[in-house]
Amino acid sequence: MRKQCWRCTSSWPPPKANPKPTPEMPIPPPFLIVLSFVALACSNSCKPTKEPPSHIPSPYIYCPPLHTLRSFISPGISEQGCKTMSMEVTNVMEYEAIAKQKLPKMVFDYYASGAEDQWTLQENREAFWRILFRPRILIDVSKIDMTTTVLGFKISMPIMIAPTAMQKMAHPDGEYATARAASAAGTIMTLSSWATSSVEEVASTGPGIRFFQLYVYKDRNVVAQLVRRAERAGFKAIALTVDTPRLGRREADIKNRFVLPPFLSLKNFEGLDLGKMDQANESGLASYVAGQIDRTLSWKDVKWLQTITTMPILVKGVITAEDTRLAIQSGAAGIIVSNHGARQLDYVPATISALEEVSAKTFIPEAEFGILLTKQWCQIQVVKAAQGRVPVFLDGGVRRGTDVFKALALGASGIFIGRPVVFSLAAEGEAGVRKVLQMLRDEFELTMALSGCTSLKEITRNHIVTEADRGRPFPRL
Ligand code: FNR
Repeated sequence: MRKQCWRCTSSWPPPKANPKPTPEMPIPPPFLIVLSFVALACSNSCKPTKEPPSHIPSPYIYCPPLHTLRSFISPGISEQGCKTMSMEVTNVMEYEAIAKQKLPKMVFDYYASGAEDQWTLQENREAFWRILFRPRILIDVSKIDMTTTVLGFKISMPIMIAPTAMQKMAHPDGEYATARAASAAGTIMTLSSWATSSVEEVASTGPGIRFFQLYVYKDRNVVAQLVRRAERAGFKAIALTVDTPRLGRREADIKNRFVLPPFLSLKNFEGLDLGKMDQANESGLASYVAGQIDRTLSWKDVKWLQTITTMPILVKGVITAEDTRLAIQSGAAGIIVSNHGARQLDYVPATISALEEVSAKTFIPEAEFGILLTKQWCQIQVVKAAQGRVPVFLDGGVRRGTDVFKALALGASGIFIGRPVVFSLAAEGEAGVRKVLQMLRDEFELTMALSGCTSLKEITRNHIVTEADRGRPFPRL
């Protein structure tokens, strides 16, 4: 069976070297050719030459000479070389390609895929592209304040980290690295129920504002215990995921028979006999969900949750105005407009398209009762009203600072990112996650400056134009 080097994805036994350079592979100068031969010779004997460092998970091979040479001779050793490592990463999306090179296929596919046709996956990005700006000019933007407050906690920017499961598959430091990066950036990390580090372990990484994402198991004692542990460990809020009574059909996971590697476990459930995932004929995660997750979950359980914790509850996975109303009636402290990164029901709208419905139309009693207000005026007022009652957040497809601005202009109080974290983690560990947060921060700050906004409250609906707006007269600022 072929094994894969954990770091650079070289496989052993190695694949046959490509005799001719492909068009993408530039012909290297002579000294690089000589070094390439050395590297190939090395890769042909790519058995571990010494014991891997303790952080390298056992099923993967560690080949130090190859790593050194590969990162030195960047272009064209083999299709799988660490080519992109030497290039400067200039935007968040680039980490995906690096992660693809570095990670075992099963892991990369698990992180990257969406459900079924992946229409919503694409739409989560494309819907952002269809929103244009109406920037204002000749405004003093020499000082820009991006700070904001989420559920009473002050953070440096409205960009936060969404829960993504099993981060130690991406990097041995997994959730620790993410927690440290979020804390260094002065923002919030949400830890997944299905993390490969426990709530206590993440809390031990140092100070930071952290939320805990909750999946509700059939066994409510397990849930109650976990929520109490999160609270004791200093987590500040629960993000209750409500869009996963069953796992969406992710075909890559089915093909790969996805399963959590045996050297890892769902740390929060270790000791409860729920920390491991069995190999299945389909996706191991889908059968785990079918066995453990409570499909009967309903609005009354949002109330039940409030009886076992004092932490505020964010309902994650709302995409309609109707459910926003119900969430508020059930005592939610906030809403996360999310389609689970397009991994659950395919053909739901992009979250950025659903946002205005949730944040605005939900709160138009004046419009519903026909008070004499123009629709445009009413919507602008109503976004403010929504933010006054409960904050509305968004995740799904946010990859640029411009996306953050567009979400805020449509009524979000902040956004969360999912895949950029696991991809950058795979590429560069904690440094990668820090860089993702910094790049988004810089881009968002630039967008604010170029739109004429010096603080978040100055970002308005009139700074953008959506498809729905086209054909309507532009409102005056
Ligand atoms: C997720 N998401 C997720 N959501 C959740 O509530 N609990 C979880 O454990 C996970 N795990 C998870 C793993 C991976 C690999 C992905 C990509 C996503 C969904 C996540 O919180 C968020 O909603 C999306 O990732 C946001 O979309 P983007 O930023 O990935 O496009």
